[in-house]
Amino acid sequence: MSRLISVSYEGKPCYDILLEQDFQMLPSQIAKLSDSFAKKVCIVTDSNLADLYLKELESILSNSFAKVISFCFPAGEEHKNLNTIQKLYETLITEHFERRDVLIAFGGGVTGDLTGFAAATYLRGIDFIQIPTSLLSQVDSSIGGKTGVDFSKYKNMVGAFYQPKFVYMNLSLLKTLPKEQFISGMGEIIKHGLIKSSEYFNWLKEHADAIQNLQPDILEEMIYRSCRIKQDVVERDPKEKGERALLNFGHTIGHAIERLSDFQLFHGQCVALGIAAACQMSRDLGQISDEECNDILSVLTCFGLPVSVCHLSAEDILAVSKSDKKMTAGKIKFILLESVGNAYSNTDITDEQIMSGISYILERSDSRREEEQADAAGF
Ligand code: GLY
Repeated sequence: MSRLISVSYEGKPCYDILLEQDFQMLPSQIAKLSDSFAKKVCIVTDSNLADLYLKELESILSNSFAKVISFCFPAGEEHKNLNTIQKLYETLITEHFERRDVLIAFGGGVTGDLTGFAAATYLRGIDFIQIPTSLLSQVDSSIGGKTGVDFSKYKNMVGAFYQPKFVYMNLSLLKTLPKEQFISGMGEIIKHGLIKSSEYFNWLKEHADAIQNLQPDILEEMIYRSCRIKQDVVERDPKEKGERALLNFGHTIGHAIERLSDFQLFHGQCVALGIAAACQMSRDLGQISDEECNDILSVLTCFGLPVSVCHLSAEDILAVSKSDKKMTAGKIKFILLESVGNAYSNTDITDEQIMSGISYILERSDSRREEEQADAAGF
């Protein structure tokens, strides 16, 4: 089993995405980089991945590069910042990395985003390779060249568009991915179906058991289909001037919840909450039916994603949503559903309409709390 997707950038072939079940094909991909044996490589990874797989990867790469070093930072979104970037620059300078040398992002979205940003800026740009290991980074963040770090409490506020040399996925690594991170990746995958393909959304529903049992052929098909959807969008709009913004479906309210919960919830969980709110707003506008809205919520729930949240205030979510960077000329750019499988960007949304979406995910948690209290009281 093996799949290949070739991604173009500004109309020209740019990089390949390989879906494999092991690392066997990695050396032959590296051999395609000119003169790799004369180059140094720095594997950038986090503390979780380093314990599990770093030795294996170092040993594979030692036959392909002149020198292999590693830079390991503590796992977690709180380390996706300029301090980690500074430490990485210091390592590269100490190890005399030159412009021809290479970085490898080995990990999830945090690793990919910050390694890509370091690659874009160190010596005005050096090559980098993505080896995404989480479901979310495989289907989303490793594709399309968005790199960057959080700044203060602002997510992805500092960054650059910078394309990798190639993206290599060893899908067998998903076996050791913590369950909650797998579920988080499903938030982005369900989003792909909702914004671009009702057929894919229905396929996900039909294959829910096989997906949750990590059946390799079904997982590969799912990751391939999600990568193809993302590829199509980023090829048409690499710098998010239009269509790419549709990928932000669920992210405006999602990012606000992520920030307000101090990044204690996973990204995909926050996206699921944002999707639930955006579905309510789409229903208010008569664009999707009650049945469709309820169906979307039940699919999110079926994959273990939240559709309600406690302990946050609607006013805070609204205020933080409006300070997110997805604004055009001071107006919030909201991604809603025209129908299931077809998203659009709406810049005429009022605070009241946003509040309806936010209340929906908060109200649900209130009613659920009452049910739980009633259950606990033995009713
Ligand atoms: N994750 C959204 C994008 O790549 O545009």
